[in-house]
Amino acid sequence: MKGVVLAGGLGTRLLPLTKVTNKHLLPVYNKPMVFYPVETLVSAGIREILIVTGGGSAGDFLRLLGNGRAFGLKHLNYAYQEGEGGIAEALGLAEHFADRGPIAVILGDNIIEGNINAAVADYQKQKTGARILLKTVDDPQRFGVAELRDGRVVNIEEKPRKPKSNLAVTGIYMYDAQVFQFIKNLKPSERGELEITDVNNMYIRKGQMSYTVLDGWWTDAGTFESLYRANRLIAHKLRVE
Ligand code: G1P
Repeated sequence: MKGVVLAGGLGTRLLPLTKVTNKHLLPVYNKPMVFYPVETLVSAGIREILIVTGGGSAGDFLRLLGNGRAFGLKHLNYAYQEGEGGIAEALGLAEHFADRGPIAVILGDNIIEGNINAAVADYQKQKTGARILLKTVDDPQRFGVAELRDGRVVNIEEKPRKPKSNLAVTGIYMYDAQVFQFIKNLKPSERGELEITDVNNMYIRKGQMSYTVLDGWWTDAGTFESLYRANRLIAHKLRVE
């Protein structure tokens, strides 16, 4: 399976930190943020990786990550997102790279304590459809929130005011080649973006969505609060290792 790291966007929730650089290049304790999602894919045995980025600092990703030697890779792939059309639009740029095969997708600001190996193995058994990773959180209104019934995800609501559960949809997703057709049928949301939640709901409607609840902590790092939390969690993890 190939992997895709989505590292575009304006990072407006982190201004002025993101005025002259991309959010995913900011430090999280002792490494640039984007290192963590790349490491998550590599430690799950994924060796063909595409970085999708955009904006004025895109060239810095090439200088920082190069051919992926820091991760034991021989090669990295890059794609450039023009404009700020959202996560699903960025993923649409991976169609050529995916070459009709399955992909593991991770948002560039998603950092985990453990690994996604079990989820990847289960997805490989599943053959078609999609799999998302869920995590119980205290502040579900900040995320896509999964509604479960009889052990199945029946709906996902993006940043609901009244969440139906405290299970956040993390920014880690596995998709088959249908995803690119779904993306082509999307309409922009109220925030003017193509939403990954709408893609996931298309799989749910087709009865082709499964899930794994992630072990260990999970955080995003797109707000001051969560970036600070990510720094503390990594610092703590390194101290106890
Ligand atoms: C995005 C997704 C959301 C998901 C979150 C995970 O939100 O839209 O469903 O829960 O990533 O990090 P965003 O960070 O773009 O607001």
